[in-house]
Amino acid sequence: MKKPQLIPASGPDSQQRRFRSALLAWYDSHRRNLPWRASRDPYRIWLSEIMLQQTRVAAVIAHYHEFLRRFPTVQRLAAAREASVLAAWSGLGYYRRARMMHAAAKVILRERGGKFPATEAGLRQLSGIGRYTAAAIASIAFDEPVAVVDGNVERVLQRVSGKRLSGEKLWAEAKRLLDVKRPGDFNQAMMELGAVVCTPRTPGCLACPVIELCATRGELAATSKPALQKKREIHYALNCKNGDVFLVQRARDASLMPGMWELPEVTRASDGTSPSFTLKHAITVTGYTVRVWSNAAPTGAGGKWVSRERLERVALTGLARKILRKAEML
Ligand code: ADE
Repeated sequence: MKKPQLIPASGPDSQQRRFRSALLAWYDSHRRNLPWRASRDPYRIWLSEIMLQQTRVAAVIAHYHEFLRRFPTVQRLAAAREASVLAAWSGLGYYRRARMMHAAAKVILRERGGKFPATEAGLRQLSGIGRYTAAAIASIAFDEPVAVVDGNVERVLQRVSGKRLSGEKLWAEAKRLLDVKRPGDFNQAMMELGAVVCTPRTPGCLACPVIELCATRGELAATSKPALQKKREIHYALNCKNGDVFLVQRARDASLMPGMWELPEVTRASDGTSPSFTLKHAITVTGYTVRVWSNAAPTGAGGKWVSRERLERVALTGLARKILRKAEML
C-alpha cells in the first residue's frame, strides 16, 4: 500500500488543491439527490439545516416537504400562528428550534422587509442561528467562502489530518481546506463524506475519494464510547370515545416541550391486567419502555377530547405521535 501523504499545515498548497478537487469531483458524481439541494433559496436551506440538526436525513425529507407546503415562504412563516408552526414541527421534536425559526422569520419580515441577511455575520444576528447554521446558509445560498464544522466534518478532519483537533483548531483546519470558489458545495461534500463514507464505526475507505491524502485511513479510533443508556418505564392512558382521543397539555413553563399535547400519564396498573401495547422510545440517554393502557383513569385534572381529524393539526409530542400511530389513530 502506498504511504499516505499528510496534508501539510503550511507550505505549498498542492495537497490542498488535490484534496478539494478530488472531494468535489466525488460530490458532483455521488451526491445524494436531496430536495433542498435543488434550491439556493436561503429560506429552504435554513429550514433544511435546522431540521437536519434534529434528525436523520430520511426523517427530514417528509417533514421538509410538509413544512414548505404549509409555509412556503419566510413571509408565510412569519404570519403563522405559533401553534400551527409547532404542529408542522410535530414529530421532529425539540420545539425550541421551531420557536426560534418563527421568531427569526418575524424579525426578517419586520426589520428587513422580508430579505434574508446574505452574510454569515448578518445571519448570526437571528435567533437560533449559530456559527454552524450561519456558515452553512451563507456558503450554500450566498457563496460566501466560510467553512462549516459539524460532527461529520469534525470526524473527517481528524481522520484526514491524523490529529485529534478540537475547538478553534477544527474551524481553522476546515477553513484552510475550503474551496473558496465553491464553498457551498465543498461544505456539503465534507458533510456528505462524513455521513456516507467516513462513518463513525466502519469507515468505507475503499470508496473514499481522498484516501490518498488521508493520514489514518480509518484507523483513528473513536474518541468516546456512547453513553450507557438509562432504562425507564412509563405508562400512558389511551382513552377513546366516538373517534375522539383524550389529550393533556404540558405546562407552558415546562423545560421540555412546553405547551405540547400528549396522552395523560398514569400510574402502573396493579390489578394484573396487561397494557394494550408496549413500545420503545429513546430520549437522549434514556431508553423508555412505554406501556399504553386503554381506558385507564388519568391522574391529574385538565385535558380535552380531540377528534381524529384534528389530531394532525395539534402540536403533539413525538412520543404521543408515535403512540397514536401505533394505535392507528393517526
Ligand atoms: N448535514 C447537514 N446539512 C447538510 C448538507 N447540506 N449536506 C450534507 N449533509 C448535511
